[in-house]
Amino acid sequence: MEQQKKSSFTGSIGFVLAAAGSAVGLGNIWRFPYLAAKHGGGLFLIVYIALVLLFGFALLLTDIAIGRRTGMNAGNAYGAIHKKWKWVGHLTFLVPSIILMYYIVIGGWIIKYIVEFLMFNGAEVAADGYFTSFIKSPVAPIVFMLIYLALTAVVVYAGVEKGIEKFSKIVMPILLIMIIGIAAFALTLSHTDANGVTRTGLEGAWIYIVPNLEGLTLSKFVDVVLDAATQMFYSLSVAMGIMITYGSYVKKDVNLSKSVTQIQLFDTLVACLAGLMVIPAVFAFSGMDGMTAGPGLMFIALPKVFNQMGIAGNIVGIVFFIMVAFAALTSSVSIMETVVASCMEYFKKTRKQMSLLVGIIAAVCAVIICMGYNVFYFELTLPNGTVGQLLDIADYVSNSVLMPLITVLTCILIGWIAKPKWVIEEVEASGHKFGKKTLFTIVVKFVAPVVMTILLLDALGLFDPIVNFIAGLF
Ligand code: PHE
Repeated sequence: MEQQKKSSFTGSIGFVLAAAGSAVGLGNIWRFPYLAAKHGGGLFLIVYIALVLLFGFALLLTDIAIGRRTGMNAGNAYGAIHKKWKWVGHLTFLVPSIILMYYIVIGGWIIKYIVEFLMFNGAEVAADGYFTSFIKSPVAPIVFMLIYLALTAVVVYAGVEKGIEKFSKIVMPILLIMIIGIAAFALTLSHTDANGVTRTGLEGAWIYIVPNLEGLTLSKFVDVVLDAATQMFYSLSVAMGIMITYGSYVKKDVNLSKSVTQIQLFDTLVACLAGLMVIPAVFAFSGMDGMTAGPGLMFIALPKVFNQMGIAGNIVGIVFFIMVAFAALTSSVSIMETVVASCMEYFKKTRKQMSLLVGIIAAVCAVIICMGYNVFYFELTLPNGTVGQLLDIADYVSNSVLMPLITVLTCILIGWIAKPKWVIEEVEASGHKFGKKTLFTIVVKFVAPVVMTILLLDALGLFDPIVNFIAGLF
């Protein structure tokens, strides 16, 4: 029977590129630059890189090792480590299921922008209110979402080796070249605004790279660390069962520790380059004000910047959104793969059957998410203080609540119950020495659970009250 043949990546490069494909996504290109701009440029970069080096690797390695050692998806892997922990596996299955339904909606928006730029409609796209009226329209967002879902589903349907690995091997190098190209172009920009002020891309890059410590207080610094930590976990696709699934496809002779370093390097490099592309461009054309665009950066602020570049801007727009689509597609493929692979295990059915089923269910759920901007529109204030619609709520539940919760649970299981050597043995099973054993142990047992508990409390809006309460005691 087809589902019993275990698929696998052909080798280490295929695995690293597929995992990097999952890691590099909208988070790198959309969220990272905006967080860097918000948190004093270089300061955020330093904190982020320190966090990646210090403990990002431990969690990524844990997920991948769980997958490879058990050879299972998250749904069953936790139960295989310890019977009583099977429920954590089921909880983990929820995360990619929720993410899939809204990620493909955003993917649809990207396809829409590619089409518009290809038709040289850059000026229209840059008009005020364009983006909002598009996502509020009843039909178009659904049609584009379906196109994006079909692209994702085709790759998953084709399987691990012929689909995911092949796709990642083609797309990831192209993505890297495109992003380096746009970043280099952004550095050459220079623009004089209506008041006669000239700003250049190089000045923007300076703002991005040099730490701005003005007005920095301890509580602001804690904010930077929390934002950087949340961003890092999202960006590395950990605690979502995804890296467990990909880990289960890795052959036993692959050096896991080295692969994790390469995946992290790729992910961090693309994030840094995205900042080097976005921040100088936005700075040259809109100054520091443009930076506060927040999440609207990609769909609102950047099209305005492209429009001001004239015809060249339209070309940059095409390249930019195709590049974003590549980044997003390799991520949504990993999300859908995880759901499909888990369903294959749960229901003992074939990949083809489950790809179709998951595709149909995801489409229905995504239609509901699209309707969150018209029929089902409402504004809900979330416990962390942000106001959101259906899409934001799905994002909040999966990333802000479930992800830290699952990480804490995973760290307790690996750090205290199965013990870190459970992972260390798997890393060394390939015959390679694992040099960061002590750091790994400290991170999994102590650092990660504490940091993730703080992130969880922060997401639930409980962190500040607790800190204030403790401060009040002294
Ligand atoms: N890591 C991806 C990013 O940075 C997003 C992602 C989230 C991918 C969840 C898979 C699962 O955008």
